[in-house]
Amino acid sequence: TQSHAEIARVKNIKVISMGKFEVETWYFSPYPEEFCKNDILFICEFCLEAVGTKFQFERHRKKCQLFHPPGMEIYRKNNFSFYELDGRKQRRYTRNLCLLSKLFLDHKTLYYDVDPFLFYVMTQNDKNGHHIIGYFSKEKLSAEEYNVACILTLPQYQRKGFGKLLISFSYLLSKHEKKAGSPEKPLSDLGLLSYRSYWADVILELLYNRTRSEVSISEISEETSIKEDDIYSTLTNLDLLKYYQGKTIICLSNKNIEYHEKNLKKKKIKLDPDSLEWTPPK
Ligand code: ACO
Ligand code: ZN
Repeated sequence: TQSHAEIARVKNIKVISMGKFEVETWYFSPYPEEFCKNDILFICEFCLEAVGTKFQFERHRKKCQLFHPPGMEIYRKNNFSFYELDGRKQRRYTRNLCLLSKLFLDHKTLYYDVDPFLFYVMTQNDKNGHHIIGYFSKEKLSAEEYNVACILTLPQYQRKGFGKLLISFSYLLSKHEKKAGSPEKPLSDLGLLSYRSYWADVILELLYNRTRSEVSISEISEETSIKEDDIYSTLTNLDLLKYYQGKTIICLSNKNIEYHEKNLKKKKIKLDPDSLEWTPPK
């Protein structure tokens, strides 16, 4: 049965406490009503179980054995890891993850049925454990060739480049599958901003480093695993398509080159493809 808050989709939780952070929520999420009586919801950052009071939370932490997400660690480099979780095998954790992410996602229906999805959780690691930064989910079988269903950076970690790192990881997996992929539509405003920025970075880098003068959209797609439609829209947004002697060509302007060279100077965390230990699931 749906609660009143769920039908009206009124925000039911003001603040969550997670690890060393207190975070204001953005949207309604169908947590059990008994958890929503106080202003703060306490969430264990390792198993993602929620409780309504600080007292219960401390009791939970004494019992909780987890110091990293369950599932397989498939990537580790410096102090970052990625874990692969199967919704069917790690059902409790992945349901908790969906409930948590719904607090920051409005435009998607929440999937209670986590079984058809794999989840990729990114962590930052220190002596206290592997702390979740964000994740994306991915359908085990996608007819539309989506390589991401939902993607989230927890607000306490946003705007530090982690969203683009998650996106980059999703394309790294697609490269291993030898497929091009695209995020599930519709994208949120923040999702669209982040994807546009990622696509622009990758395509400009490829064009900047190319050794041959001719390059086609399908070649860019093969190299990056970005779907051709997304490449086309990025080239259009960057104003890179020019009509020349009866042909459409991709043409880097000085403005694009300046943008890219400035971008190269920024200190950014990059993925190391060799640190991935993963074979695509059958
Ligand atoms: N305002 C303006 N620009 C922004 C903002 C913002 N609030 N947030 C991110 N951006 C831009 C950044 O400037 C950056 O571009 P740049 O590198 O060229 O400067 C780019 O978007 C990505 O920034 P990151 O720091 O890498 O991304 P972040 O870690 O903040 O995560 C994400 C982005 C995942 C979309 C995050 O905002 C989020 O979790 N939002 C809530 C959930 C959501 O909307 N998810 C996407 C739904 S669509 C889908 O799931 C397929
Ligand atoms: Zn726990």
